[in-house]
Parts: sequence; C-alpha cells; structure tokens
Amino acid sequence: MIRNHCGSALTLADLEAMDRDDPLRTLRDAFMLPDGVVYLDGNSLGALPRETPTRLQQVAAVQWGQDLIRSWTAHDWIGAAQRVGDKIARLIGAGPGEVVVSDSTSVNLFKLLAAACRLRPGRPTILSEPGNFPNDLYVAQGLQELGNGRIELQLVPADRIEAAIDERVAVVLLTHVHYKSGALHDMARITARAHAQGALTLWDLSHSTGAVPVDLNAAQADFAVGCGYKYLNGGPGAPAYLFVAQRHQAATRSPITGWLGHARPFDFVDEYAPAPGIERFLAGTPPILGIAALEVGVDLMLRADAQCLVDKSRALSGLFVALVESRCAGQGLELASPPDAQARGSHVALRHAQAYAVIQALIGHGVIGDFRTPDLMRFGFAPLYNRHADIWHAVEMLRDVLLTSAWDRPEFKRRCAVT
Ligand SMILES: Cc1ncc(COP(=O)(O)O)c(C=O)c1O
Repeated sequence: MIRNHCGSALTLADLEAMDRDDPLRTLRDAFMLPDGVVYLDGNSLGALPRETPTRLQQVAAVQWGQDLIRSWTAHDWIGAAQRVGDKIARLIGAGPGEVVVSDSTSVNLFKLLAAACRLRPGRPTILSEPGNFPNDLYVAQGLQELGNGRIELQLVPADRIEAAIDERVAVVLLTHVHYKSGALHDMARITARAHAQGALTLWDLSHSTGAVPVDLNAAQADFAVGCGYKYLNGGPGAPAYLFVAQRHQAATRSPITGWLGHARPFDFVDEYAPAPGIERFLAGTPPILGIAALEVGVDLMLRADAQCLVDKSRALSGLFVALVESRCAGQGLELASPPDAQARGSHVALRHAQAYAVIQALIGHGVIGDFRTPDLMRFGFAPLYNRHADIWHAVEMLRDVLLTSAWDRPEFKRRCAVT
C-alpha cells in the first residue's frame, strides 16, 4: 500500500494536492479534453491542443486560401519539415540539421533501415527482438525480400540482444520503449556494444519522445524514427520524424530518391543528386496541414521542463501500479510491465483473462485505455495533461468494473476493427 506523508493510505485528496503542486498543471489547460473522460491513451493518440483548430484554420484559410502557392515561400512551407525537425531534435538530444519531419514512421523506418544496410555492405543481418512492434518487423521483412538473399532479419529475445551483436550484424533495430510492456532498452549500452562490433543502431522512439529521457547524441545513436501523433499530440496520422547522426549524413543515401531530397529540386534535371544534409531523406511534397498541427504539439512539449515531464510520467505510472495493487488485489490482474518506473516508459500494461471486455467496459464508463492482443490492457500517462487525480478515478473505475463484472455484457465483447 502506498501512504501519504502522514503514514495513512493515500486518498483522492492527496492526489488532488499533488495536482495543485504540479509544475506542469497549467499545460493541461492547453488541451481540449472532454468532461467526464479520463484519457489514458495518449501513448496511442495524443489529445487535441486547443490551438490546433485555430492554427489549421489559419494555415488553410489564410495561407492556402489567400496566398495560394506563394505560401511555399511567403510562409516558408518549403522549410517546415526542417524547422519542425529542429524543434523535435531538442526533445531527443539531437542537434540542428539531424532531424527532419517526413512521411510516416513506417516509411522512415524503411528509408533508414535501407540506408543503414548500405552503410555496412557485406553484413547481412538486421537484428531485432521477437514481439517488437510488428510494423517494424514487417518493414524489415519487406527490405529482406528486396535484398534477394543479401539481407536477413534475425530476432533474438531482448535479454540476448547484446550477446547476439556480431560481425554479421549491419544494424540493430529496436523500439526504445516496448509498445506493449513499456520495457525500456538501455540505448547507450546497446549502441556502445553495436559500435564495438562495427554495427549501427536504429531506434524507434514512438513511445519515448516526450515521456522518457532520450539523448540520441549522448548515446552516440546512429539512426532513429518516431511518431508525431502520440506524446507529441500532432493529431491522427500526423507526419513522423527521422534522425540521422550528422557524422553519417554525407555517406548515407535514402532508397526513396524523391525530388525534395534532391540537392536542387527546382533545377528539374533528370539525374538524382542527394541534398547535402538531412534533406536527402525527404521524398515527396511535405504535408503542410499535418506539419502545422504537429508544430503546435511540439511547441507545447517544448514549453515543459524535460525533467518535470519525466518525473511526472514516472510518478503517474508508479501511482497507477501501486493503486492497482492495493485496490484491485484478487481481481485476476497481473502487471505485464517492469515494476520499476525507471525501467519502463510512460505506459503500463495489465494482463487479464477478459482484458478486451474489461477495457471496453472501462471506455463505456469514461476511462479510455486500449487493448493489445491477446490479453493486455494498456494505460498511457501523458505528463502534459494527465492529472494525479485521473489515476485515482481510473483505478476506482477498474475496481468497480471488475468487482461488479460490469464487463460481462455482449456489447463489451464484440471485437471492433481497432482495439
Ligand atoms: C513502436 C511503433 N512504431 C511505429 C508505429 C506506427 O507507425 P505508423 O505511424 O507508420 O503507422 C507505432 C504505432 O503505434 C508504434 O507503436
């Protein structure tokens, strides 16, 4: 049981007091969150910043509507991917010119995996872990097919990854915070081991940026990709970002040699020549409306002190785990995330035999988390807008749903296409 400073069991009033003392509390007001909803799915789709609809209206109605194509220059649409990339760089320990916004995480992953394999000719292996976000494995499998026997994907359990890095490995591909369990990889240690063996690393930061400390350059990471629509609050399908360490840029080529990655796109010459810097990883015309929405989310994240974000993220997930242990004991729940907050990201997974129905019942009662097959409920804690008191309400609702078997209804068992 967790206790307050008087030694008695923690109460809702204690959590409300924590919210009053929270240095990030004013940032919650920057989001439009519906009344009566406890939103614990910001690790999947971040909440809507209040400013986003206004910004989108402005970019659409004024820039697009009035200034039309002149906006590429007048409103620097042409520089948007680099500008927002430089802002994201500040969140992940990268330097200016090392990050660019482009495409989706999947497409960026393809580009950088291919680039990494090309930097290590003669080494066939992309090394990853079984149970990594399937999308990332699918993308690697696609590259393997294209490689016609020159590229192979090898999967090794997380605790054996470092030992498996040898002279055959071109690149180690890992999701920094595991999408289900939330388990956190030691980026610096794995990268050092990879480099000692002459291999490269590619980190998927989708569940990390804005939630856990990320310092790509301190870790000497080579490549990274990440989502714009999770903790960065860029909106559904927001453009993603990619990182290529400065030291690799000149020697690294994108396999999608699109015109905006060309050194002089408006020369319209027939031969491709890569742009000198990170721009070579751009492909086609950037999604200006999507980047405009993403920039609002990134600017909000930049207003928060990074250490406060991490401290709050750990406090929220720690409270959740402790309250579930004390309030939902004996209800068939099992913690499927590392028990130590320092060893996980900002979401927690709970295993339950009826996980799908339980999560649907919770959603029906205004507590939004999600389900990951076969038996996990995921709860994400977004330090920008989740309150300590939200944790209390979520756990009390979970307790209620389990104690009363409120989940045991046909409508909560019907599988939706998106879980
Ligand atoms: C670890 C990870 N990588 C990538 C993605 C998504 O990639 P995309 O935006 O291309 O669908 C997700 C989405 O949930 C994810 O969890």
